[in-house]
Amino acid sequence: MSEIIKQEKKLNRNELQKLQSENYAKRQNYRQEREELRKNLKHVRIDQEFLTNDKENNDNDKIELPKKRFYRQRAHSNPFSDHRLEYPISPNHMDWSKFYPYYYDEINNKMNKQVTIADIGCGFGGLMVDLSPEFPNNLILGMEIRVQVTNYVEDRIIALRQQNLNNDSTNYQNINVIRGNAMKFLPNFFQKSQLEKIFFCFPDPHFKQRKHKARIVTNTLLSEYAYVLKEGGIIYTITDVLDLHEWMVKHLDQHPLFERLDEVFEKNDKCVEIMTYSTEEGKKVERNKGQKYIKCYKRLPNP
Ligand SMILES: C[S@@+](CC[C@H](N)C(=O)[O-])C[C@H]1O[C@@H](n2cnc3c(N)ncnc32)[C@H](O)[C@@H]1O
Repeated sequence: MSEIIKQEKKLNRNELQKLQSENYAKRQNYRQEREELRKNLKHVRIDQEFLTNDKENNDNDKIELPKKRFYRQRAHSNPFSDHRLEYPISPNHMDWSKFYPYYYDEINNKMNKQVTIADIGCGFGGLMVDLSPEFPNNLILGMEIRVQVTNYVEDRIIALRQQNLNNDSTNYQNINVIRGNAMKFLPNFFQKSQLEKIFFCFPDPHFKQRKHKARIVTNTLLSEYAYVLKEGGIIYTITDVLDLHEWMVKHLDQHPLFERLDEVFEKNDKCVEIMTYSTEEGKKVERNKGQKYIKCYKRLPNP
């Protein structure tokens, strides 16, 4: 009898292993295919001309939106480790034409717009996708530390751009993502006072006290955010973790360059509504009927 059970268990284990390796191979294949596509299209201007050339190559099928399940990665990334990330040595060394080729003026060899909205720790990019039609005259950048998540957002934007060339509401040319650690070298990417809005949507809570220093809002970091934010610019925060909310409010209240905005502002501001419902994390909280804590702050003039 026990021999039979043993054999059954072994069989199950073998089947499980087989299934796991099949799934692994499927994921690897999928990632490889998307990587190829990403390499080819990441920095390409996807416009009518692109579509016409594509047609000539008989390759004008709609690019599918990426499937999130193939891009899963550990939930947390250590913001203090090196990650082998590349940074521009100054904002002047940043080549934005690769991120927003549609806004690159080839005749004058310069960008005709600059990034003014940043989504820090953008995750899977839901906020940018919803902000895009609302802010057609702004360039919006998501910064994300996790590599697979960044890949997902890049693939999502390539597909959205190709699928929406004739969409009157937006063609998603004004959004993009960069893999980076927002806790390091933010002023290497942005000029002083360049940004109008910075979003911190459902940042990692780092619950344990000894991990608080890894939180995305600290005194030092707030001074960096104040540097890249213009006077009157807004910091938006939202989280479902009360302790983190209180932490962010405490630090922002204490900082001399930020002033808390009231509930009337929160009620009437378009971005507050969008960030409440559009991010992937926000949707999860919604499904679980969790609480969302919001606070917004205005960048004050330098004293
Ligand atoms: C809980 S998720 C929220 C994602 C998204 N904002 C949302 O609301 O759906 C936090 C995200 O911030 C990213 N992140 C954490 N620390 C970061 C850092 N220092 N720089 C850039 N991204 C970071 C994480 O990888 C993760 O994707």
